[in-house]
Amino acid sequence: MDHFYRRKRVGLLKPLLSLSLVFASFLMIHKLKVAEKDGVGLKRAWDAGWCGSRCSPLKKGAVKTRSDSPAAGYVADAPRVSNVTPAFWDAQVLNCSEDASVRTNDWFRRLDPRFHQFVLHRHCRYFPMLINHPEKCADGEVHLLMVVKSVIEQHDRREAVRKTWGHEHTADGKKIKTLFLLGSPTTGKDTKNLQKLIEYEDMIYGDILQWDFMDTFFNLTLKEVNFLKWFDIFCPGVRFIFKGDDDVFVNTHNLLQLIGFKEEERKDAELFVGDTISKAIPIRNRQSKYYIPKELYDKPYPPYAGGGGFLMSSQLARRLFVVSEDLELYPIDDVFLGMCLQKLRLAPEIHPGFRTFGITRRKVSPMNSEPCFYRNLIVVHKLSAQELLRMWSVVHNDELVCAQRTSM
Ligand SMILES: *[C@@H]1O[C@H](CO)[C@@H](O)[C@H](O)[C@H]1NC(C)=O
Ligand SMILES: *[C@@H]1O[C@H](CO)[C@@H](O)[C@H](O)[C@H]1NC(C)=O
Repeated sequence: MDHFYRRKRVGLLKPLLSLSLVFASFLMIHKLKVAEKDGVGLKRAWDAGWCGSRCSPLKKGAVKTRSDSPAAGYVADAPRVSNVTPAFWDAQVLNCSEDASVRTNDWFRRLDPRFHQFVLHRHCRYFPMLINHPEKCADGEVHLLMVVKSVIEQHDRREAVRKTWGHEHTADGKKIKTLFLLGSPTTGKDTKNLQKLIEYEDMIYGDILQWDFMDTFFNLTLKEVNFLKWFDIFCPGVRFIFKGDDDVFVNTHNLLQLIGFKEEERKDAELFVGDTISKAIPIRNRQSKYYIPKELYDKPYPPYAGGGGFLMSSQLARRLFVVSEDLELYPIDDVFLGMCLQKLRLAPEIHPGFRTFGITRRKVSPMNSEPCFYRNLIVVHKLSAQELLRMWSVVHNDELVCAQRTSM
């Protein structure tokens, strides 16, 4: 949820930028050679230009449909909302102009100016993709898709996630894959170089989805709805989704175990579990990052799970996509998902293993430094990249002896 640590990175970024630009040009040349060799030719690459260098729109039917996937029997009763949706990204509006009619409203004039931009662009929902990976979950069943909200500047966090809980692998025959969700650089930044940097990173790892909307706090809900739509189109064979921030610690082993329990109990179809808040009301303190003026929303919030990390089934993700299309966008992404769940008459389940709120960052807190705490939980907010790497290796050290597991 928290993407406000950008400024610090700039110093680090400069040398990285120049280095990467050299690489980027080298790679561009290499890529063009490969394209020729494949007989793809340059024409196709330019046609696909709007969705970026890594975009390779699949032909209709190129992605396995659910009926050929081994999961077919299991998921057959879930509504197949994308029956007629071709397997390519169809949002092509290249810019989002403001809805000027909103300006004439009385409440808009009273509204805190911080929300003007959001309200004026609220109608723009789906954006073109700058980097796409239609192939990510196209080859057979993926047990768990790890989906991580990030912004371009937080390269070090993505690196740490890739080395730890976001490491793509197959465990007991179950595939785990990872994707990072990004928007475009916000204005005022070194837009062109940041874009080159992220394209280069994606050439190495192939795990980035990027949409052409500005990566701002109030646009996080766009990340949510664009991902849900993307998932519905490109991921027929995925079973579960973990969705989280790039600054959390995830105990993958415990997460998989939880999925196993839910499967045994046959509670997996409507699975949505996380750090749930049931009786929240909008924050009216103007100093808060989560401040919402009355003009924008004047009711208690529906139950929702903190966006720092939660687990859901693919069936439910598809249903969320369907109902999300009838809901006006809300500037806080996890509350928006709570609204979608409410429309489905569902509430997120609370689980004590998800600790995405209220863990103190004070170094004196034993919770921050106690490896056994991490070993027993599923998600812990929030760590720096270095802390994540260190904690991961300590928790996975065989010599770490913890008392009886009690907190699960
Ligand atoms: C954005 O779209 C509007 C029409 O919706 C068009 O008039 C304008 O030229 C476009 N701007 C850019 C930068 O493409
Ligand atoms: C969200 O992104 C769109 C597209 O880049 C932009 O027009 C809009 O102003 C952004 N909204 C906010 C609240 O930042």
